[in-house]
Amino acid sequence: MTDTEREETNAPIVIEVEAEHRYEVVIGRGLLGELPGYLAGAAKVAIVHTATLGASAEAIRDDLEAQGFEPVLIEIPIGEEAKSVEVVAFVWEALGTSGFTRSDAIVGLGGGATTDLAGFAAATWLRGIRVVQIPTTLLAMVDAAVGGKTGINTAAGKNLVGSFHSPRGVLCDINALETLPRNDLVAGMAEVVKVGFTSDASILADIAADPSAAVDPNGALLTDLVRRAVQVKADVVGRDFKETGSGGAIGREALNYGHTLGHAIERVENYEWRHGAAISVGMVYVAELARLGGKLSDADVHAHRAALEALGLPTTYAPGRWERLLSAMQLDKKARGATLRFVVLQGMQNPVIWEGPDPALLVAAYEAVSSQD
Ligand code: GLY
Repeated sequence: MTDTEREETNAPIVIEVEAEHRYEVVIGRGLLGELPGYLAGAAKVAIVHTATLGASAEAIRDDLEAQGFEPVLIEIPIGEEAKSVEVVAFVWEALGTSGFTRSDAIVGLGGGATTDLAGFAAATWLRGIRVVQIPTTLLAMVDAAVGGKTGINTAAGKNLVGSFHSPRGVLCDINALETLPRNDLVAGMAEVVKVGFTSDASILADIAADPSAAVDPNGALLTDLVRRAVQVKADVVGRDFKETGSGGAIGREALNYGHTLGHAIERVENYEWRHGAAISVGMVYVAELARLGGKLSDADVHAHRAALEALGLPTTYAPGRWERLLSAMQLDKKARGATLRFVVLQGMQNPVIWEGPDPALLVAAYEAVSSQD
């Protein structure tokens, strides 16, 4: 699509996901008027949000009130800290106090931590009530809020407690990205690049042609990249909602590209690294691992670094932390028993699972990402 064609298409884009039930992901600008349509039949609506989005949450509340709903605001802490059992208990308490029934609904307004938490509260309240996600970060639009994975963290690791619970709808309002801090926008782009590596080479080509346009929330390229990344996710989730794989095909696990080391980095860094930054390093790590295993060429690994660095994403990690990373990876939910499991590319855009790589290769790949400046 050319820039002019993109500019001409101002109508919201609707992508259908068929997983657990059919639902729509709507991508456009100024979408809040669409929300009531996804809440039909609900009386009470809990808007789960952080303090940063207080004004938006109040605007949604006023709008829903004017439409005859009984909205309740539930404010949760900012960032990964919100994804705790204590915060879920706080949300359950608020739902109980307000008398939420099976026909009522939750709206998750915010980044990936908020939509994961709101989704998990919806999945568990009365064994499952409706949730509509309104992601406000790029990462949540292209990944967290789409696909029905919900969950919280425990002391042992990230997303170790959760549930598959598809949303009733997802509203990706690109206007929200205009006020998103630039580092968050760039970090979210790591998930878009991920889809480029695993599935859609044209995403990589378009970002390489104009990396600044790719992270310009006022331009049309970013909206188009969101559309293409969501379309890939919708297709993958439609085929393998619960990540069980099917007929030997990799399925939803492909979306975990770069995440095995990425989650370990997040944990070792006490979640002070952005998820996108951690999986950026994680993708270079598995590219190096694949090269060592004869699955990717030197040029492919170079293409990984070039795509991520063009956006300002990190591709190296501190030396001397291998043991800590390894034990974090062994606890990750992607491990099976004691065996580590990586999504690697057997040639670009061809993700496969590599179980139990030779420990010497694992260390050599770490050295390749930790010895470069
Ligand atoms: N974020 C990976 C998935 O949704 O499966």
